[in-house]
Amino acid sequence: MRNILITGGAGFIGANFVYYWLRENPEDHIVVLDALTYSGVKLSIEPLIQQEQLIFVHGDICDKTLIITLFEKHQIDTVVHFAAESHVDRSILTPDEFIRTNIQGTQTLLGTALESWRDNIEGKRFHHISTDEVYGDLGLHDPAFTEQHPYAPRSPYAASKAASDMMVRVYNHTYGLPVSISNCSNNYGPYQFPEKLIPLMLINILMGKPLPVYGDGSHIRDWLYVEDHCRAIGAILESGRTGETYNIGGDNQIQNLELVQELCRLIDMSFDADDALASRFPDCPYVHGNASESLIRFVKDRPGHDRRYAINTKKISTELSFHPHVDFSSGLGLTLDWYLNNETWWQTLMSGELNDWFKTQYGQTNK
Ligand SMILES: NC(=O)c1ccc[n+]([C@@H]2O[C@H](COP(=O)([O-])OP(=O)(O)OC[C@H]3O[C@@H](n4cnc5c(N)ncnc54)[C@H](O)[C@@H]3O)[C@@H](O)[C@H]2O)c1
Repeated sequence: MRNILITGGAGFIGANFVYYWLRENPEDHIVVLDALTYSGVKLSIEPLIQQEQLIFVHGDICDKTLIITLFEKHQIDTVVHFAAESHVDRSILTPDEFIRTNIQGTQTLLGTALESWRDNIEGKRFHHISTDEVYGDLGLHDPAFTEQHPYAPRSPYAASKAASDMMVRVYNHTYGLPVSISNCSNNYGPYQFPEKLIPLMLINILMGKPLPVYGDGSHIRDWLYVEDHCRAIGAILESGRTGETYNIGGDNQIQNLELVQELCRLIDMSFDADDALASRFPDCPYVHGNASESLIRFVKDRPGHDRRYAINTKKISTELSFHPHVDFSSGLGLTLDWYLNNETWWQTLMSGELNDWFKTQYGQTNK
């Protein structure tokens, strides 16, 4: 039985991981620590907060006193560290919070884990969740990122994650802290905050709003269904070697424009198959006889936008026998179904601060 501290467990991947982990390991005790920033949604894990195995703590990973208390009070033996400022566009506008949370916050957790575990390191694990963006940009025909690829971050977000990865490695190398790191490609699925590409596009199509595509839309990303990411983290916690980094990806590269077109097709097909959708979402172009693709608008490219990311998954597949279960087309279908069935969740988030953010980004209201 483990006592696990999950940071950022009210965010997109963290929330999915909490559901996954409790389903697979119902005997474990989980402490979720989350500052509930704009992307932290307590509602996402509300049903689990009622359960005995899970304690929710509203707090900051930079608060050393709080972290020490949590380690002592709950005898934490495992940390799964998701908490971060995670949106590249926001990092370009306001990098300071990225440095504070992603670097200083990670350092606070590492330092506390070391102090708390120093006398009995057996069975302990600090797993740090990171991103493929630390590796920088790939040309169209370059080989995919392996774990040995040099770090070359190109946004404040990626730089802050790269710095936090380095601190995690140093705590292993210098102090012997039992750590592991995973660098994952783009995730998609339930509970993703609607500023990110897939939920943003799905919701805008349903609401009949423009679909802002950066530049010419030819940027390439590798996509992984979030539950597969959770399974990969589970495999690393179970059998991954300490001191190691594992790349996680979906072996699934697609251009942003193609992805948006695919989402448009998926929604048009859903409206075709289900008449009830037209009355729920009367502004969707399909209701008025237009293809959803008619909403696509090319907008000024993001500064320093990386062209391509791709992940070499050989290490995790050979060492830990991890392979994604959900292919891209099924994953997109599951994701669309989730957003259609959980309208209250995203409608609650689409007002206030998020609305102001869209206005600064795309010069449009997003009511
Ligand atoms: N989303 C992706 O595609 C992706 C891909 C690879 C890696 N990652 C990494 O996975 C992790 C989770 O990403 P996500 O997409 O779920 O992000 P998210 O923005 O949805 O969630 C981040 C969570 O961290 C919390 N948080 C932020 N600052 C905090 C602080 N100072 N103290 C405590 N909690 C704080 C937020 O409230 C939120 O709940 C991040 O470390 C990110 O770098 C994400």
